[in-house]
Amino acid sequence: MPANSMHEEVLNALRKVEDPDLKRDLVSLNMIQDLEILNGQVKLRVVLTTPACPMKAKIEADVKAAVLSVEGIQNVEVKMDSRPRGSTIQGSNSIPGVSHIIAVSSGKGGVGKSTVAVNLAVSLARAGAKVGILDADVYGPNIPTMMGVTEGPQIENHPTKGELFLPPTSHGVKVMSMGFLIQGDQPLVWRGPMLHNVVSQFCHKVNWGELDYLVVDMPPGTGDVQLSLAQLVPVTGAVLVSTPQEVSMQDVRKAYHMFEKVRVPVMGFVENMSYFQAPGSTEKHYIFGKEGGQILAKKFGVDLLAQIPIEQTVREGGDEGRPISVSQTSSDIATKFADLAGQVVRKVSVLANQAIDPSQIVQIGKF
Ligand SMILES: Nc1ncnc2c1ncn2[C@@H]1O[C@H](COP(=O)(O)OP(=O)(O)O)[C@@H](O)[C@H]1O
Ligand SMILES: [Mg+2]
Repeated sequence: MPANSMHEEVLNALRKVEDPDLKRDLVSLNMIQDLEILNGQVKLRVVLTTPACPMKAKIEADVKAAVLSVEGIQNVEVKMDSRPRGSTIQGSNSIPGVSHIIAVSSGKGGVGKSTVAVNLAVSLARAGAKVGILDADVYGPNIPTMMGVTEGPQIENHPTKGELFLPPTSHGVKVMSMGFLIQGDQPLVWRGPMLHNVVSQFCHKVNWGELDYLVVDMPPGTGDVQLSLAQLVPVTGAVLVSTPQEVSMQDVRKAYHMFEKVRVPVMGFVENMSYFQAPGSTEKHYIFGKEGGQILAKKFGVDLLAQIPIEQTVREGGDEGRPISVSQTSSDIATKFADLAGQVVRKVSVLANQAIDPSQIVQIGKF
């Protein structure tokens, strides 16, 4: 068979392989690169949208099977790769080098938002992504403690951008927090415009380098920081955290509507403190009520991404600066967080693939 028609045959076979999330074939998604065919031997590169793709093994197997189904092909060598980083949503307000911004939010404080943000971030990093976490909870910046960071950021003198913060790295994640910038136990009494400036500085005056995901731990509620973030940068999507009881769910509904108003897609709910199971027992105690997360997810038509039980080790991991997803990687809860990370990666990939027009990013004009 002539070389060019063999090339076409292999491509045709690959046109039958779909990205399971994007529901489009790999050829039209431009994911097949450097295809070489010589004497029945095929070499190619599959370029995924993220190094943390949980579908990587399936896609690789599907590609190999498709290529080998072509008559005359004896062997295939597949290199799994991912696209160079850079904001998928182009616009003057994107953060240079940062592909996706994921907001972790809740209606109430104390429901485990920071715990979820930290474990999500380290799980994404463990899956192979480059990750940063931005602690935007200016009222209760707990991320340095939870990530075990003691040293604040360095200051770098950038030739065009002036002074930039260089965030420290912990457990493979770059960390930036208001907690680095306030002295001791000083409470913050800043008003909207000042908060807006702080969020802006955190987005644009930090040298994040190249990141696949920037996870943002939001303050509880639906206040100025949320609005500023949505206004200042393209947020790919939000994860909402709630405990199962009615009062927490009431507040998370408000958070949902706020994200809807500022046109940030809600990727799903995480129900935290879902139940307690005493060590060695199989009985589950639903301390904060049962199935609140499911009811909420159903009502809004979004997914319940995870149900995380109450466990002493989770609290200890937070207090000791070693998240459970780092310290006990094979535990049931670390597996739940890894699964959450996989689901978030898939949702982000779908959202980023829907052509998002930068003019759709709302300007609230509040400040
Ligand atoms: N699943 C859990 N099991 C045990 N303790 C938890 C769990 N989730 C959170 N915690 C603990 O509850 C407290 C509040 O959680 P935190 O993540 O700080 O909430 P938020 O950021 O919403 O205020 C922390 O001490 C944290 O360690
Ligand atoms: Mg918090």
